[in-house]
Amino acid sequence: MTNDRRMIKAIRGTRDLLPPDTALWNLIETTARDVFRAYNLQEIRTPIFEATELFARGVGEETDIVSKEMFTWEDRGRAASDKAQSLTLRPEATAGIVRAYIEHKLWDRGLNKLFCVGPMFRRERPQKGRYRQFYQIDAEVIGPASAGSDSPARDAEILEMLATLLDRVGLTEWNLELNSVGCPNDRARFNEALRKALGPVKDKMCVDCQRRAVTNPLRVFDCKVPEDQPIIDKLPRIGQFLDEPCRQHFEAVQDILKGVGIPFHINDRLVRGFDYYTRTAFEFTHGGLGAQNAILGGGRYDGLSEALGGPPAPGIGFAIGEDRLVLSLQEKQSAESVTRRPAAYVAPLGAGMNREAARLARELRRQDLVIELGDESFRLKKLFETATKAGAKYILIVGENEAKADSFALKNLATGEQISVPRAELANKIRA
Ligand code: HAM
Repeated sequence: MTNDRRMIKAIRGTRDLLPPDTALWNLIETTARDVFRAYNLQEIRTPIFEATELFARGVGEETDIVSKEMFTWEDRGRAASDKAQSLTLRPEATAGIVRAYIEHKLWDRGLNKLFCVGPMFRRERPQKGRYRQFYQIDAEVIGPASAGSDSPARDAEILEMLATLLDRVGLTEWNLELNSVGCPNDRARFNEALRKALGPVKDKMCVDCQRRAVTNPLRVFDCKVPEDQPIIDKLPRIGQFLDEPCRQHFEAVQDILKGVGIPFHINDRLVRGFDYYTRTAFEFTHGGLGAQNAILGGGRYDGLSEALGGPPAPGIGFAIGEDRLVLSLQEKQSAESVTRRPAAYVAPLGAGMNREAARLARELRRQDLVIELGDESFRLKKLFETATKAGAKYILIVGENEAKADSFALKNLATGEQISVPRAELANKIRA
């Protein structure tokens, strides 16, 4: 250790999630797990870092994420002769899950509906709702087409599940924006038309768009530069280039959504910032979030498995931005209201009473009560102060007389009412 005693802070774009907010995070994750269970999704946990190539090939070299936002480093082996490998902190979960699907031949085990919860990393400019380490709840449904994984029924099922989940966590004012980005053939024709349309105007656009216009014109729609928006508004739309099967697929998704009563609107500019998407693409937005208004995004990726060296396996999935979902919920619900406060503060009074207090606290905690425990060195005044600060409802005095009588003084800290309660009745009294 050095003598330097300066304070060290968390890195910009990362943050500590503190109580009571963590109670809201837990509420969201518990609700998601409950809802996912009803749809037969199972949990997968993939590594936080992967080979850089996975994202370059999966997400696409020309996307913002791969071209400028990844945390990538050259990892050398321990021996001088080891070759360096390029590794990347995962910027998203889909590529890793599809890699795992292929690597473990999950289709053989009938595992085709997976979810994961965890941190993702993107080198973005930090602002409200945008962090460099953020958290996603991600789900993917993938499998051979013979199992129906390319069916519009899967798309509608995923969207209906999301609407259910958002309603269940208490976020009601969401908007579902829907589009189809077609298949690779449609995209080739669309890119050609875009290249043509961009030719005479691209010099007036930002440098990124000038590059995109040549390399991957579709990505022009990811542009957020305000001056470029009037130009982008006049460009052709992917919807005009869908072939008949893609058009029918999109129609079928909409038809089922109407059938189950999930409102949506078509956003023909929505292409999402990943090259793996095919057909259905969607986002759920929420007004309260300002510029970063997408709570979650997702879509279909029918060619991703093959692009990563796997068998044909159409898939569809989404990722919820947990940070943003928490922000939206905080407007309606305080984290305090979902936090479980201590039911009682067990207060050992006098030398030698820690032992009896520990026994009592153990019994009460085993009956699912939240218990804070004091220390025999505290005077009565300090015991009361600590109990109040902890937010406990009751203080339970454990002194020598109480221990002998096996009956304890239980005082309601709000009303001041105090009663003596036999050990066997304590849990019920505290709960009531
Ligand atoms: P995405 O749209 O990049 O999609 O991210 C999904 C959600 O993660 C966004 O809607 C947003 O709420 C949240 N998010 C993204 N970046 C940040 C950030 N820097 N700070 C805070 N929240 C952020 C995907 O990641 C795809 N893998 C989704 C998917 C799964 N598609 C198919 N399967």
